[in-house]
Amino acid sequence: MSGPTSMPMTGTTVLAASHLARHYEVARGAFRKPAVIRALADASFTLETGRTLAVVGESGCGKSTLARLVTMIEPPTAGTLSIDGVEVVGADRAALAKLRSRVQIVFQNPYGSLNPRQKIGAALAEPLVINRPGMSRAERSAAVLDMLSRVGLRPEHADRYPHMFSGGQRQRIAIARALMLRPEILVLDEPVSALDLSVQAQVLNLLVELQQSLGLAYLFISHGLSVVRHMADDIVVMYLGRIVEQAPREVLFAGPKHPYTRALLSATPVADPARARERIRLKGEMPSPFNPPAGCPFNTRCPLAFDRCRVERPKLEWHGETKVACFAVERDG
Ligand SMILES: Nc1ncnc2c1ncn2[C@@H]1O[C@H](COP(=O)(O)OP(=O)(O)OP(=O)(O)O)[C@@H](O)[C@H]1O
Ligand code: SF4
Ligand SMILES: [Mg+2]
Repeated sequence: MSGPTSMPMTGTTVLAASHLARHYEVARGAFRKPAVIRALADASFTLETGRTLAVVGESGCGKSTLARLVTMIEPPTAGTLSIDGVEVVGADRAALAKLRSRVQIVFQNPYGSLNPRQKIGAALAEPLVINRPGMSRAERSAAVLDMLSRVGLRPEHADRYPHMFSGGQRQRIAIARALMLRPEILVLDEPVSALDLSVQAQVLNLLVELQQSLGLAYLFISHGLSVVRHMADDIVVMYLGRIVEQAPREVLFAGPKHPYTRALLSATPVADPARARERIRLKGEMPSPFNPPAGCPFNTRCPLAFDRCRVERPKLEWHGETKVACFAVERDG
């Protein structure tokens, strides 16, 4: 088990994704070809020890699809993914099992990962029973107690069932369970969206502490920018399955470039009303992924769209420290 002495230095790349894509075929009846949903296209990014990459975008933009690829719950349709330099695509079962234990996930609703009839102590011990057969019972229970205290719970909580905890405590338990195998990467799929605001802040603080003490890399998925404002090192903004902007957090908040990022940011509350941005309201809904618009995926809602946007898709390109896919940025700087 990795202790603080063996912790890699912050900034070591632990995961690299290159042009990741995932399509789904959805049946449309006996006489029609299946529809293809491009849930994710062309996603490239890295995760580093001790750092957080936030993935932000509206419902259906492909965030959980990305999470499923990174956690190796399902394979990509195209692209490559490597963990600690080991290629995931094409890895055999034994190699894949090893890689999977390095990447764990926490979902929005911890009930999904907790068995209501299993005491918390047993739930936390379970990954060890399965993956560390050499561990003695005493070592397991020591590891469980250690993890309970790391997530701010008490030893006696081990003897209780999930329904005996508050929402925030249950999310702490889900985090503890995800950390039992001491993964290097934690995927957090909207981990605080179901919690009250005050509890959200506590769980976010806990995640920051755990990241520092365990040297974890986080892929933090969120609907909006406000949750990741203090937490993220880098931010990826997604729209209809594609990354539209990618930048260090402070660069993105100081100067969002893509019109979609600007709209998301204008909807984010700020502490100082004098600095509030004018709210940009987007027209309409996100288009159906069955039938995405031609050209720029955002053109049906974009206040800046012009002719070119309706026929050609902008590529993600560097503009200063930001990568952005927008013809207006290319044209106007
Ligand atoms: N197994 C599947 N079969 C068919 N379509 C799917 C499948 N999984 C996801 N999709 C579609 O892919 C798109 C992206 O879904 P995904 O769950 O990744 O979005 P999301 O950004 O996580 O949304 P939310 O914020 O609502 O959780 C959606 O249009 C969804 O309907
Ligand atoms: S490419 Fe055109 S439609 Fe797309 S975001 Fe930029 S200005 Fe808007
Ligand atoms: Mg999701």
